[in-house]
Amino acid sequence: MVDTPVSPAGAGPLPDRSVVPPVWGRITNLVVDHGEGSWLVTPEGERYLDYTSGIGVTNTGHAHPRVVAAVQAQAARLLHGQQNIVYHEPGLRLYDRLARLLPGGPWGAFLSNSGAEAVEAAVKLARVATGRPAIVAFRYGFHGRTAQTMALTAAKDVYRGAFEPLPGSVYHASYPYCYRAPGGAHDPAACTCDWEAQLELLFHQLVYPDKVAGIIVEPVIGEGGYIVPSPTFLPRLREITRQHGILLIADEVQTGFGRTGELFAVRHWDVEPDIVVMAKGIASGLPLSGILARRDILDRLRPGSHGGTYGGNVVACAAALATLDVIEDEDLVANARERGRQLVHGLRRLAAGRASVGDVRGLGLMVALEFVKPGEGDGRMPDPELTKRVQQACFDRRLLLLTAGTYVNVIRIIPPLVTTVEEVDSALSIIAQALDAAGAQGPTE
Ligand SMILES: Cc1ncc(COP(=O)(O)O)c(C=O)c1O
Repeated sequence: MVDTPVSPAGAGPLPDRSVVPPVWGRITNLVVDHGEGSWLVTPEGERYLDYTSGIGVTNTGHAHPRVVAAVQAQAARLLHGQQNIVYHEPGLRLYDRLARLLPGGPWGAFLSNSGAEAVEAAVKLARVATGRPAIVAFRYGFHGRTAQTMALTAAKDVYRGAFEPLPGSVYHASYPYCYRAPGGAHDPAACTCDWEAQLELLFHQLVYPDKVAGIIVEPVIGEGGYIVPSPTFLPRLREITRQHGILLIADEVQTGFGRTGELFAVRHWDVEPDIVVMAKGIASGLPLSGILARRDILDRLRPGSHGGTYGGNVVACAAALATLDVIEDEDLVANARERGRQLVHGLRRLAAGRASVGDVRGLGLMVALEFVKPGEGDGRMPDPELTKRVQQACFDRRLLLLTAGTYVNVIRIIPPLVTTVEEVDSALSIIAQALDAAGAQGPTE
């Protein structure tokens, strides 16, 4: 709790909200004063259960005392120790620790600031290491908003539609979205999606596989709709990439740091990628990102061929070290698994009898509800209006939730990994009321 309201930003009345440009599309007009654990608190003391985690960032909860202490202590010593000029202790410790997070390897890390910037590093590295030009990404994937990452992104038109031309030699393959499979919705455990045949076709129609440097994939699709793939997808993709000498790049920006109930989601399927992209949960909210790559690959980037002024900022590195300590000491990966099960189980109960909830899915604490119009088409027609009403009804009851999906008909639930049994129960009870209030009914078929 903040005892004395101190405004580091200066005195005087708060400027009008219109000072912020509309490009920051937003889901609330809330002004927040502070955060604690799963909660955001307004200047008036109203408490909101934050199940957005600032888009999957605050895995240790808002303002975890150990992260705050590490940031405060580091900020008082050094704010900026530029990586081309000096070494600093938090950076050295973090590079070393990150390289030991995954089995296999041996791994090395590169540090930057944002998820998109880390994806850029992964693509540059894949091209340099293989000497090949092309990159394959997946439909529904989201990788960022810089030129290269827009070209990789296929989650939604708004991310790229107005910005052509985009960098070329990028091809999109089909992701196993079992709920939306052309042959009908089915259980991912018995997947009949034809993603492998489509990839094969891509290699025959559009790009030689021996021209492909890397295939970038989200182990669970985030922004594109919280899509959990079939259990065979990543292992088979690993085999195919090995067969063609293509590097497998796992974009774990949203799935990483315990979010799905493993430290990195690839561990669910025992897959070892060549490059892992990290951001969001890595530093509990301070801007930090990076890649892990096999050391023999990483060392192919020549000095100066990649970098950035702020990459591996010393305060952000201190926050990341404290974040990793908290994740380990508080067993947050296990909590993500358990609370995730509680949440999905509760949502399935709420969805029973409501045909407008087409799908409930999730892995760990990356959970989604997909809304459809039951009486229309084949029953899977996206219903973005209902989705928005449910989101708003939750907000009215002080539960913050985000949407996702190409047609914005998915509500994604991203609690901090510190969330409790009681908080999940309370979120479920709010969602139940919100579904009723928003009219999420429809005949069960
Ligand atoms: C999977 C994935 N990759 C990349 C990014 C881009 O990260 P950033 O917004 O930090 O650039 C995101 C952001 O949502 C993401 O979810």
